[in-house]
Amino acid sequence: MGRPLVTAQDVAGPGEPRIPEGAILTPLARDVLRRRGLSPELLPRVPAPAPAPAGGARAPTTAWTAPRRLVIANWKSHKTIAEALAFAEELARLAPRSSARAVVCPPYTALVALGPPLRGVAELGAQDVSAHDEGPYTGEVAARHLVEVGCAYAIVGHSERRQMGETDELVRAKVRAALRGGLDPILCVGETKDEREGGRTQAVVSTQLRAALEGFEPEVVPRVIVAYEPRWAIGQGVTPTASEIADVLAHARAVIARVAGEGAAARTSILYGGSVGAKNAAELLAIPNCAGALVGGASLQATTFAAILGAA
Ligand code: PGA
Repeated sequence: MGRPLVTAQDVAGPGEPRIPEGAILTPLARDVLRRRGLSPELLPRVPAPAPAPAGGARAPTTAWTAPRRLVIANWKSHKTIAEALAFAEELARLAPRSSARAVVCPPYTALVALGPPLRGVAELGAQDVSAHDEGPYTGEVAARHLVEVGCAYAIVGHSERRQMGETDELVRAKVRAALRGGLDPILCVGETKDEREGGRTQAVVSTQLRAALEGFEPEVVPRVIVAYEPRWAIGQGVTPTASEIADVLAHARAVIARVAGEGAAARTSILYGGSVGAKNAAELLAIPNCAGALVGGASLQATTFAAILGAA
C-alpha cells in the first residue's frame, strides 16, 4: 500500500480536514488549505486508514492507491421500503466475505430506511443525481440531499437514462455535480447493439469517457468509478466474451490515461456491468483490469448478490 494522496477536493469541505499520516498533499490541496487560512504543514495528522473490510465502512476518498474493488447493486425501479429492509436483513445475515466493497443503490424512497441495517454490510448509492446543487428544479434530487441521507455514490449516465434523453453533456454536468457535492459518481458507458455490430464499441466508449471527464483535475478522476455496460447485454442474459470485455476495459483505461494521466488511470476503478449473475461472476471478475461489477437483476435477491460479492 503506497502513501495516501490528499487532493483539493478532500480539503475543500467544511471543518478541519483529516490528513492521514504520511499522506502526500497535491499542490492544489495545499493552495486550498492556505486559502482557508490553514497551514498544510501544521494540520494534525490522523492514523492512516486500514484497508476497508469486506463490504465495510467507507475509507476516506484519499486512501487508495490502486483501483477500489466494488460490487454495486442497481435495483432500478424495484423494491418497496419493506422489501428493501428484508433484503438488508438477509444480506447482513449472509455476510459474504469479499475483497470488494458492497454498494446498494435502491430507489430514492428506500435510502433513509436502508442506512441503519446496511451499516457495516454495504454502502449506499443513488441511481441518479441532479446536475444542479439546488434551485427551482422540480423533482430533481441534488448531491447534498443524497449525502445527507448517507449516500457515498451516485450512478450517472446509466443507459436506461441515456435512452430517456440524457446527453453526454448532461452526464458530464451530473458527474461534476456529484463530485462537487461529495459523491463518487459511477459513470456508465457502453455501446448499443448496432454500434457493436458496426465495430464502433471502442469509439463510443472513448467519446462517452472523454465527454464526461475531459478537462477535470486529474487528481479528481479516480473518484469516478467507470462502469462499462454494453447496452445490448443489460437485462438480456448475454455478455460479451471475457476477452472482448478485457479489450474494452484496457481501452477505457488508456482513454482515461490520455485524459487524466497514467497515475490517475492506474487508480481508477473500471467495472463491468450487464447480465452479471452468480454463475458468471467469478469469470467476469477475474478479467484483467476489471475492478468489480454493476449488477441489476441479479442484485434483487440477497442470496445472489451475496454470491457475486463472494466471487469478487
Ligand atoms: P443487469 O443490469 O445486471 O440486469 O443486466 C445491469 C445494469 O443495468 O446496471
